Amino acid sequence: MSSKILGILGSPRKDGNTADLLDAALLGARSSGATTERLDLADMDLNPCKECRACDAGATCAFADDDDMGEIYSRIRNVDGIILASPIFFMGVSAQTKAMVDRCQCYWVERYVLKRRAYEGKVRPKGLFVSCAGSPKPNIFEPALHVVKAFFAAIDYQYVGEVLLGHTDDPAMGPRKQAAIVSAEAAGRKLVPGSPSSE
Ligand SMILES: Cc1cc2nc3c(=O)[nH]c(=O)nc-3n(C[C@H](O)[C@H](O)[C@H](O)COP(=O)(O)O)c2cc1C
Repeated sequence: MSSKILGILGSPRKDGNTADLLDAALLGARSSGATTERLDLADMDLNPCKECRACDAGATCAFADDDDMGEIYSRIRNVDGIILASPIFFMGVSAQTKAMVDRCQCYWVERYVLKRRAYEGKVRPKGLFVSCAGSPKPNIFEPALHVVKAFFAAIDYQYVGEVLLGHTDDPAMGPRKQAAIVSAEAAGRKLVPGSPSSE
C-alpha cells in the first residue's frame, strides 16, 4: 500500500506563496509514490481550544465531533507524514494554523501526561514545515518554528525540517521563490518512507 502524505494549508490564500510551496512538496511526495491530500484549514469549521481540560483524563477532545477537527484527528493517526504550511502572521503561525495546533492539546496529554507513545515499536510519521514571510529579517521564522516543533513533538511525529521563503514583499523574489519550490519538492520526496532520499 502506498504511503499517505497529508498537506495542511494554514494560509487563507489558496494560491499564495505558502500554498505554492506546499503544492511543490506534495508533488515531490507523489513523485516518490505517495498518495497525497491537501486540507485547507480556511475552508474548515475549526473552533479554538476551550481549555475545558476534559482531555486531561483520556487524551481525547470532548469537542472532536462538534466541528471538522475530528477529520484532522483521524488523518493525524493514519498518515505517514504531514507537511504543515503556514504564512507568518504577526511573528507567528496564522490563526487558522494555531487553532488546529491548540486543538492537539489532547495529544500533548497523551504523550507527556499519560506517557503513552503513539508509535511505540513502529516507524514514526514525519513532519515538515513550509512557511513564507513578508519580511527579510533572518530570524523572522523563529517564533513559528517553536510552535511547529512543539506541535510535531506532541503528535509524536519525527520533525525533519523546514522550507522557508522570506521577504515575499520583495517584487524581485522570483528566483528565490523558484529555489524554494525546488527545495520543497525535494523535501516532499524525502518525506516518503522507503524513498531513495528518505532518511
Ligand atoms: C495579518 C498579517 C500579518 C502578517 N504579519 C507578518 C509578520 O509579522 N512578519 C512578516 O514577515 N510578514 C508578515 N505578513 C506578511 C506575510 O507573511 C506574507 O505576505 C506571506 O507571503 C503570506 O503568505 P501567502 O503568500 O501564502 O499569502 C503578514 C501578513 C498578514 C496578512
